[in-house]
Amino acid sequence: MRGREYLTSLLFLLVFSQIKCENCMKLDISITQKVENEGFHRDVRWLLETTNPNNTDWIQSGCKLAVHINVNAGMFVSKDQLAELNRNSTILIRVDGNVNIETAAHDSTAHIAYIYLPQDEIERIMFSLPIHLRYQRAQITGKYGKVYLDKPTVLVRCPADINLCGKRRPILEAPCSFASVNKCQWRNTTYQALFQDVEMFVPIGDLDDYPLVSIVSLLLGCAGCIYVLSILSTTPI
Ligand SMILES: *[C@@H]1O[C@H](CO)[C@@H](O)[C@H](O)[C@H]1NC(C)=O
Repeated sequence: MRGREYLTSLLFLLVFSQIKCENCMKLDISITQKVENEGFHRDVRWLLETTNPNNTDWIQSGCKLAVHINVNAGMFVSKDQLAELNRNSTILIRVDGNVNIETAAHDSTAHIAYIYLPQDEIERIMFSLPIHLRYQRAQITGKYGKVYLDKPTVLVRCPADINLCGKRRPILEAPCSFASVNKCQWRNTTYQALFQDVEMFVPIGDLDDYPLVSIVSLLLGCAGCIYVLSILSTTPI
């Protein structure tokens, strides 16, 4: 009698865990990041890879994947350039908010770039974002300013009947799709970052040099004047 009860509960547990397993989708994402070029114009490139799920399961799930990039005040993304990139591409990038491409870092505000990844692929996706570093206020010390590049945030949105395995991730409001005016609830999903945090350096004007440079050029100008005048006055007419 006891044995049978034990067996029943074991069977129950087995069935139950099976159901639970079927109901959640495992999402194992890793990302590599590389910043290309030097100076004010950079290209940030990413490679997103998954071991789970595969493309077939992903397409079947109906889930969507997007990447949220915080473009801080030290840099900007050009909307004209994005329009050019989005043409003929399955990866679509949008920027929300006003982007002033003229202002220096200390007069600028951050904006967000959303990169919408193709829905029929997840095993291996490459995407990139051209960023432009802003001019920085001249400082007393140092010839280079630093701009930090925040880690990308991976956003996932699934149909109501699909549960992602693991701890429930925080919800983030973001545009539903590239062209949508509506906001949807996305999950901020964890991934394995196969890269270090990045700092980019921009050349800045050195305030220290300024008075010296103007005094020297003034003195040289005076000296030139005196020299010319002295030649003129000693030359017999
Ligand atoms: C997403 O979650 C990570 C880890 O918890 C956090 O560092 C990051 O700031 C979040 N992203 C956004 C846009 O809130």
